[in-house]
Amino acid sequence: PPEAVPQAPEDPLFGLMRAYKADTSSNKVDLGIGAYRDNNAKPWVLPVVKKADEILRNDPELNHEYLPIAGLAPFTSKAAELLLGQSSAASAEKRVASVQTISGTGAVHLGALFLAKFYKVNGANRTVYLSNPTWANHNQIFTNVGLPIATYPYFHKETKGLDIEGMKRALADAPERSIILLHACAHNPTGVDPSPEQWREIAEVMKAKQHFPFFDTAYQGFASGDLDRDAGAIRYFIEQGFELVIAQSFAKNFGLYGERAGCFHFVSAPAPDAADVTTRVASQLAILQRSEISNPPIYGARIAATVLNDAALFAEWQENLRTMSGRIITMREALRGKLEELGTPGTWNHITDQIGMFSFTGLTEAQVAKLRSDFHIYMTKNGRISMAGLNTSNVEYVAKAIDSVVRT
Ligand code: LMR
Repeated sequence: PPEAVPQAPEDPLFGLMRAYKADTSSNKVDLGIGAYRDNNAKPWVLPVVKKADEILRNDPELNHEYLPIAGLAPFTSKAAELLLGQSSAASAEKRVASVQTISGTGAVHLGALFLAKFYKVNGANRTVYLSNPTWANHNQIFTNVGLPIATYPYFHKETKGLDIEGMKRALADAPERSIILLHACAHNPTGVDPSPEQWREIAEVMKAKQHFPFFDTAYQGFASGDLDRDAGAIRYFIEQGFELVIAQSFAKNFGLYGERAGCFHFVSAPAPDAADVTTRVASQLAILQRSEISNPPIYGARIAATVLNDAALFAEWQENLRTMSGRIITMREALRGKLEELGTPGTWNHITDQIGMFSFTGLTEAQVAKLRSDFHIYMTKNGRISMAGLNTSNVEYVAKAIDSVVRT
């Protein structure tokens, strides 16, 4: 029947991108979507990605055949190594199953689908606990596969930092064996990460309740500029003996947004039959993958694999990562500095305390709307700004605009 399909609202983030593109003002500033921009507000193709692209294009053997169901092995194995480290006991003990996915979104989805089918206690699905707030897409990805969702406190409104006590209390109160979604680094949308000590506390509560960690990592190396540091939480949880899963995106840290290069990893807990468990999990993931996408797209994975498997290119990639994270840190300092110089009411230290692509400014929905209507500055209505949208030419304009809306 015609009424069976109601009109759905437009995706807020992609709607924002469309509105920005349609705006003809020469002052317009895009602080919406989480995609890196250079100091000229232009997309940045990483120099190392250009090199890898050239190597691939000059390869006379290159073809467009299907990948295996689990993806490009030189990509998935290095993707796992990047997260787990070179001397990972989990890898040595064959406790890791990796499947190439349609970027991070596809990895979260594959994990959600897998858990919806197999992670049942007494026949019932477990609830997935998401941070409040979280990346908007998390809600619908888990809901779409029929997993119930709930939230745990995360952002502390007054300090604009982590509500560690609220978070730990909620994790302790959640039913045993709940699924807990954790952002490995550079939390989206808040830019607030637990300290190493706070990660230990979180792991302790989760262990006591036998919770199941579901890591989402989209900013390794992009957050701090240090690949190992940004994988610290994941490595710690694995060392603590958790069975867990990881959704990994290469969109941001390789600038491969539209190429959709990502990976899903299952890591089993240390046990005599752990390698068997992992093999069985891999076999089920292959069935899910085949029925959904058959096999993953090849080009982005080839680019990443070319870089990850070559020592010189890998070093250059790390340099490129430091360029991106370094420029973002400079912009954090500049925005905070300008706001403090202007004496804008409120405190602004959170802008430099937060990390990664985003800052959760604390601006209200009304202030965000005013920034858009009066100043042509675009950000999501929760007050999140994509730091990469700032540059030396517009940071003062943005600071003055924020100052103006905060005072009205
Ligand atoms: C964002 O949050 O802006 C990015 O992760 C892009 C997306 O897909 O939502």
